[in-house]
Amino acid sequence: MTTGRHLYSKVTKENTLEIFLDSSDTPMPNSQEVVVKIEATPLNPSDLASIFGPADLNSVRASGSGDSAKITADIAPPLMKLVKTRIDSAMRTGSEGAGVVIAAGDSPQAQALLGKVVSMAPGQMHAQYRCVHFAQCMVMPAGISAKQAASSFVNPLTALGMVETMRQEGHKALVHTAAASNLGQMLNRICISEGIDLVNIVRSEAQVKLLRDLGAKHIVDSSLESFGDDLVAAMTATGATLAFDAIGGGKLANTILMAMERVALSEMKHQDHYGSSVHKQLYIYGLLDLSPTILNRGFGFAWGIGGWLLPNFLQRSEPALIAKMQQRIASEIDTTFASHYSQEITLDEVVSLAALKQYNKRATGEKFLILPHKI
Ligand SMILES: NC(=O)c1ccc[n+]([C@@H]2O[C@H](COP(=O)([O-])OP(=O)(O)OC[C@H]3O[C@@H](n4cnc5c(N)ncnc54)[C@H](OP(=O)(O)O)[C@@H]3O)[C@@H](O)[C@H]2O)c1
Repeated sequence: MTTGRHLYSKVTKENTLEIFLDSSDTPMPNSQEVVVKIEATPLNPSDLASIFGPADLNSVRASGSGDSAKITADIAPPLMKLVKTRIDSAMRTGSEGAGVVIAAGDSPQAQALLGKVVSMAPGQMHAQYRCVHFAQCMVMPAGISAKQAASSFVNPLTALGMVETMRQEGHKALVHTAAASNLGQMLNRICISEGIDLVNIVRSEAQVKLLRDLGAKHIVDSSLESFGDDLVAAMTATGATLAFDAIGGGKLANTILMAMERVALSEMKHQDHYGSSVHKQLYIYGLLDLSPTILNRGFGFAWGIGGWLLPNFLQRSEPALIAKMQQRIASEIDTTFASHYSQEITLDEVVSLAALKQYNKRATGEKFLILPHKI
């Protein structure tokens, strides 16, 4: 029996959120299962959202040390309704990661994984060990390390899912916001390799440079006064009618739909006061700005806004499509689907105020990788 540490996030009925580590025995694998020694697991924006929930991070304080170290933050009473199902039940965190298979059940499929570097996304991955069904593992090619494989599910499948959604819904080009993110960089590499036009919306000159160096053709900087016109020019050049928006709050979604409509109207022979008949679709797939989404609806009547979530996309996709995507991810994990981390930290450091202030910034190029066995 292997004992390992897990990271927990707990909401208390005293209107606080606590983050701490605890140890437990790893289950023995049944015939179909393997035990993975997790060597690297990222702190994705979605992980940070579930770890901290609606807690007020201006109120964070640390207590205890070593195994009893804890971070506590207050939750404003009106926001407790958002987490009422979590009260007093400690939740293990971490969506994905990678490591080495150290024990396996007696089925041939489980045995075949012994000693291999695998990645997986079964949840509860901010931990030292995880026992999972063999089919949940993505086997990495020889020579790929757990660090390289740590982010091989969430962002790679989402980037591929965006392109697939574009094809399924009959669009020919894409718009992407917060486009210098790890995911945005992957999406650029995919689009460049497949000859798909992609309009990248970023918010600084440094991000423009980052994407230009990657080979991106259409980059629009929302911090410039010319943003609206630049966006229309990029939409005209690409014909993009589908956008994936990681930001969600504020007026950006409106600006994108307005730009698409301006292009559609400019191509119409006869004006119609109901707007163009070109369908414009925007999916909000992230929560980077929690303020309300502001729409003035000045973009006609042929439009849609919806949410887009990877698990829902996977649920409605054919298993053969998902298998094909996973094969591509494994074979291109150090190129197309490579992730960048600014720092590697231990599990203990996750529960420290100094590291929290850094990893919770969610800034470009500042993603953190947890190495659960590093001391
Ligand atoms: N729906 C799904 O199924 C799904 C799946 C995977 C990922 N996601 C989402 O995809 C997004 C990117 O993930 P990632 O792992 O690639 O992130 P990442 O590498 O950590 O990058 C985050 C990016 O967001 C930008 N950003 C943060 N706050 C912003 C704001 N208010 N306005 C504009 N830009 C902002 C940062 O730019 P600055 O440096 O300028 O702050 C940075 O470029 C996240 O929102 C994540 O939740 C969703």
